[in-house]
Parts: sequence; C-alpha cells; structure tokens
Amino acid sequence: MEAMQSARKNETGDIGSDLSEQVKAATKDSHVRAENTQLMLSYQRGHITLPQYKVLLCSLYEIYKALEEELARNSSHPAVAPIYFPQELARLETLERDLEHFFGPEWRERVVVPAATHGYAQRLRQIGRDSPELLVAHAYTRYLGDLSGGQVLGKITQKSLGLSGQEGLSFFSFPGVTSPNRFKQLYRGRMNGIELTAEERAEVLQEAVAAFELNIQVFDDLQKMLSVATETADQSAGSGVKTGTFPY
Ligand code: HEM
Repeated sequence: MEAMQSARKNETGDIGSDLSEQVKAATKDSHVRAENTQLMLSYQRGHITLPQYKVLLCSLYEIYKALEEELARNSSHPAVAPIYFPQELARLETLERDLEHFFGPEWRERVVVPAATHGYAQRLRQIGRDSPELLVAHAYTRYLGDLSGGQVLGKITQKSLGLSGQEGLSFFSFPGVTSPNRFKQLYRGRMNGIELTAEERAEVLQEAVAAFELNIQVFDDLQKMLSVATETADQSAGSGVKTGTFPY
C-alpha cells in the first residue's frame, strides 16, 4: 500500500504494529486529499461564508447523529467500549446548539441533508448494525480530526463569520478535554488495546480510508450545491428576477 510506505517509520524502518499508527499511515494520502478539497481550501483561506457554514453544520449533524447513536448502541462491544468517550467527545448536542443559533428554534424543520451526507450516515448505520468492530475507523476519523485540525478551523470560523464570543461555535469546543494532545495519546492507546483478528484489522484500515472518502464526497457535494446556489443567485440578480438564494 503506497500510503503505508510513505508513513512515519519506527527505528527498525517498519510501521509499528499499533493500530493507531497503521490507521494514520493508511489514511495519510486521504488526509492530504481531504485538506485539499475546495471547501477545506476556502476554509483555510478564511473564505468560508455563512451559507456554507450552515450547510456544513447540517451535514455534520446528520453524520454525528448516526455515529453517536451507533456508538451508544454498541457501547459494550469489545471493539467499541475502549474508545467510547461520550462525556469528552460527544458532538451531537453541540451541533444542536449551533444549529439553533443559526437557524432559530425551528431549526429541525430547516435542516437539509445533501445526498452524499445521507450516504455517509447510511454507511455508519449499516456498520453499527452489521460490523461494530469497524466503528473505530469512523470514530477515529471524525473525533481525532476534530481534536487536531478542527481546533484551527474553529478559530478561522469565528473570524470568517465575524462571530463575537463562542455563540454558534460549540462544535469546536471540547470542555471535557483539557489537553487535545494528551487526549489523542490516550485515545490511540485505547485503539491499540482493541483485540482484532488480522482480517478485522485489515478491514478497519480499509474502513478508515472509506471514512475519509465519505468526508471528501460530503465536502465536494456541499461545494457543488453552493456553487449552483451562487450561480442561480447571480443569474437571478442579472435578470432582475427575485428568488431566494438556495438553500437559505
Ligand atoms: C490530524 C490538519 C482536515 C482527520 C491533523 C493534524 C493536523 C490536521 C495539523 C495533526 C497532525 C499530527 O498530529 O500529526 C487538518 C487541516 C484540515 C484537516 C488543516 C483541513 C482544512 C481533516 C479532515 C479529516 C481529518 C477533513 C477527516 C474527516 C484527521 C485525523 C487526524 C488529523 C483523523 C489524526 C491523525 C492521527 O494522529 O492519527 N489534521 N486536517 N482532518 N486529521 Fe486533519
């Protein structure tokens, strides 16, 4: 596997046998691709707009709803229990708070679920039902990402959207995690303690790559949706016809 070869090596020149190292190595290229999606690039340049952020929140809500429901349902499964940290990591309530901030009390009626997001949520539910040992791949991809690059993205969001204080930014805040780096270390240790057969381990690595891919599809889908919205709005403005800007 190419991603494996380009990964950080240990003293003997091999990638360690720890699951956390193997997952990181297997998803290294995918991470670069995710960072370089149009949406993430605009994000990093501070070009995120309120409509973009609002649809992103809708997508994240749908994704975390599926992820956290499936983790909770399988919380005593031996491959889930060690990495189950609802107190420290749960994002669903933070997303609900942020959605309410931006959409108002009727936010539930206003949440839109783009197609790729729906596919991601379906995959999570299928795994929760049929192969809970693969949930770690999805939990790793989202939570360790949120605790890493996500912290910078929080600051960028605040600045780009001109938000004062923390209102609307709960998603980025982890009050139960004092040190993201130390928590990531603990999480990796827990991942490494999960007992998996060689076949299951290979499947987890494959699923982590799939999880990144699903995120990339969600970002591309949102980007497309929003470009169409902007074009439609531009045309409407040009023709003097007044239509609402999709989706808000
Ligand atoms: C780790 C940046 C997008 C998932 C990291 C780290 C940084 C970073 C600086 C820490 C690397 C380290 O400790 O070695 C970014 C930036 C992004 C971005 C700037 C986009 C603007 C994403 C996305 C995902 C993701 C979209 C997945 C959905 C992860 C994961 C880790 C991570 C799982 C932990 C890797 C590990 O320690 O095993 N990211 N990231 N990142 N990121 Fe991202």
